[in-house]
Amino acid sequence: MSIKFVSPVAKTFCESLLPNQKIGMHWFKDKKNFEKKVYEKMALLSDFDHFYKNLTLEGPVGIKPVTMTSNPAGLSFLQFIIRQKKVKNVLEVGTFLGVSAMFLAESVKKNKGRVVTIEIGQEFVNYAQKNFKRNGHRNIDVLHGDAKEIIKGLPIKDFQFLFIDGDKTHYLEIFLLLEKRVSKDCIIVFDDVIFNGDIFNDTPNTKHGLGVKNFLAYLKKNDGWIKTLMPISNGMLLLEKKA
Ligand SMILES: C[S@@+](CC[C@H](N)C(=O)[O-])C[C@H]1O[C@@H](n2cnc3c(N)ncnc32)[C@H](O)[C@@H]1O
Repeated sequence: MSIKFVSPVAKTFCESLLPNQKIGMHWFKDKKNFEKKVYEKMALLSDFDHFYKNLTLEGPVGIKPVTMTSNPAGLSFLQFIIRQKKVKNVLEVGTFLGVSAMFLAESVKKNKGRVVTIEIGQEFVNYAQKNFKRNGHRNIDVLHGDAKEIIKGLPIKDFQFLFIDGDKTHYLEIFLLLEKRVSKDCIIVFDDVIFNGDIFNDTPNTKHGLGVKNFLAYLKKNDGWIKTLMPISNGMLLLEKKA
């Protein structure tokens, strides 16, 4: 005999989406530092904190790496996908100090793969190059310039994994440049697609929020891709091309 369950399930699943919601914390007695404990456990198990802490980074005075660097927990998740897919070549948009590029480069090392990362700011290009060198990552190439222009001249089919983390106002434009040119088995990841909640405002407060919102609205109508939005950090959108 089987039982037919009746909705509403959506509400229930919303309530158990993140570990720090009521259900996820049900047995947690301490009531303090729950997120810290979750992060530390994740970091301990997958060692990403160790990888991050061991990096020696140089950057401009007044800009803390954490303000723009993707969350190491999310990067560790990307490393998992890259290893499982046996990706060789990765393309990144938005280098900053090079932390995400180094995470990506580490995960393609075994396949003798490379990371090509594009950065518009000359200052960041210089810092990233220094950071790659001092941390022993020789499989990363930094291209200086506007990703919207550089992408046009790259052999996009050669990259099996694309990580887009540049200016959020350009997400749609970047996607349109890539959409028809990527290989059929590639994965594209767009970072920060919740943009601090700004995408949920009818009229976003920031041009970045508006950029992402427009991009997501376009994707909603685009049937050529399987779209998975993961609530990691500021939202990671994973795109797979439909067969
Ligand atoms: C969020 S940061 C990237 C962080 C980096 N991916 C990490 O996690 O370590 C965004 C970077 O994109 C760069 N950027 C912005 N617009 C760009 C464009 N049109 N082309 C290339 N890079 C761009 C910015 O200068 C900035 O360094």
